[in-house]
Formats: sequence, structure tokens, C-alpha cells
Amino acid sequence: MTVLDGNKIAGEIQEKIKKEIDSLKRTSNQIPGLTVIIVGDNPASQAYVRKKHKIAQKLGINSRVIELDKRISTVRLIKQIKNLNQDQNVHAVLIQLPLPDTFKTWEILDHLDPGKDVDRFLPINLGKILLNRTEIYPCTPAGVLVILDEYQIDLTGLNVVMVGRSFIVGKPLASMLTNRNATVTICHSKTKHLAGLLRKADLVVAAIGKAGFITPDMVKKNVILIDVGQNFLYQRKDVIKLCTQSQQNKFEKKGYAITGDIHIDAFKKSSYYTPVPGGIGPMTVAMLMQNTLLLFKQKLKLE
Ligand code: GUN
Repeated sequence: MTVLDGNKIAGEIQEKIKKEIDSLKRTSNQIPGLTVIIVGDNPASQAYVRKKHKIAQKLGINSRVIELDKRISTVRLIKQIKNLNQDQNVHAVLIQLPLPDTFKTWEILDHLDPGKDVDRFLPINLGKILLNRTEIYPCTPAGVLVILDEYQIDLTGLNVVMVGRSFIVGKPLASMLTNRNATVTICHSKTKHLAGLLRKADLVVAAIGKAGFITPDMVKKNVILIDVGQNFLYQRKDVIKLCTQSQQNKFEKKGYAITGDIHIDAFKKSSYYTPVPGGIGPMTVAMLMQNTLLLFKQKLKLE
């Protein structure tokens, strides 16, 4: 059972990005610009955005966060996006999801310039992923592939069960794994006989947002487990049932704990696994920085 150490790999990637930004700054006299829009007061989203901003600043990215009240109108939100599309110093824009329920997600996202779509969520960008015609991938799926590559895990011919079909993780990652010669089954909340499918999998990716949902009896011995879930727990009884001792200790200080979609006891049956926290989470942030740099370099090439 080997831990896929997202903190370590993400730290190494960040160092490389920082060096490249320093060097591009010297040669071009410009720096990459990332703007994150956050609407409303979802505490998990606020925490993620703070983290992204802090790391972007550390790497020398011109990072800005636009915080908007949840009562902002759709028209005004779209105006903000259009302003960023025009801003020459902004190379990458991220609209933090989920938006408050009052917004129709695509009515908003569709106004973003696909060239600044750092998440690669827009149809043209997702289409290029499907066709294997791009070098820029959505942050979380990119983080999953990079960490597997770092530990030299060969995906060829593996039976992968992808649990979750979101456009943030499941859909793009399933395509990316298929393009890497894995055989992928996409499962979701309506899938029949999920446990039976999971038990046949060589590699399981869980991206469903249900704490400890995948239990040890649902996976085979030596499976590779990739846990994309980040679930906040506030009840002591849940923390005791679902978290490691070190997470339980942190809960006593912080009042909450974070755990994944895969039950910690399932990791004991695995050959490799990503812990939560410290697995895919930091990889996602590192990939956001990498995508920002890639979009900036694309723009420099066009000048
Ligand atoms: N919410 C959860 N993950 C993500 C992500 O990767 N990008 C955006 N924009 N919102 C998210």
C-alpha cells in the first residue's frame, strides 16, 4: 500500500512553475494573470479560493479574487466576465462552482472567452479533450493523471471505474483515461450493481461527494484508489466513523474534519491510494497554476 503523496508532487510542480514565471518575467517583462470569481458565501468554496489566491501569489502570478454577493443579477455577473475577457492583463479566469442555486451555470459560463477558460469546461475545450487535441486539461483530472505518471503507474489496459459524471471531473477524466488506453466505465447515482462493477476494477476514481461511500467490501485487493472527494464533517460521531486518528485530533481543534468518498479502511486493500487531505486536492491547485502559466505562454506566442 503506497501513498500517492499529492502534497509532495504538488510542491515540486509549484517550484518549477515559479522558476519559469521568474524567467518569463525577465524576458517578456510580463507576468501571468489569474482572476477568480466567487459568488455567495459557501464556506468550502471560500476556503478553496483563498488557497488558490495564496499559492498563485507565492508563485508570482498576478492573482485577483472578485467576491460577489449572491444577490447579484445574472446580467451584472455576465458584465464582470465580459470585462475580464477584454482585460489584457488577465490570461486565466476561473468561476468558482457551484454557483448559488439562483443562477443557471451555463447561462453564466458560456460568456467566458474560451481562451481564458482555465478550467477547460467550455464545450470547445471539452471537445478538444475528447478528441485528444489539446495539452491543457481541467485541473482535477490533470492532477489525477500527473500523480499517476509520477508514480509510474501504467494505465494501458486497466479496467477503470469512474464514479461520478460531472463536467468538472468524471466526463473529462473518463476521456483522458480512455485516450491513455484504459477501459473506462462511468458510474453515477443511478447505476445498478455499482458494488459488482467496483469489485472488478483495477483502478477506482471516486468523485461523488459522499463521505466514506466506497467501503472495503466494494473493492478488490491491490486496487488503485483515487479519491477526489473533499467532504466536510462537523459531527463527532461521523468523524470517529470515517476519519483517521490524525484527522480526529484536528477535528478537536478546528471543529470540522475533511474526508474523501472512499472509506479509509478500503485504502488498506489497495496497492496505491490518494489520501484526503493531501492527495488530489493539492494537485488540483498546482494544475490551476500550471494552466494559468500555459494560457499566459499561449498569449506570449501570439504577440
Ligand atoms: N468547484 C470544485 N472544483 C472546481 C474546479 O475545479 N473549478 C471550478 N471553477 N469550480 C470548482
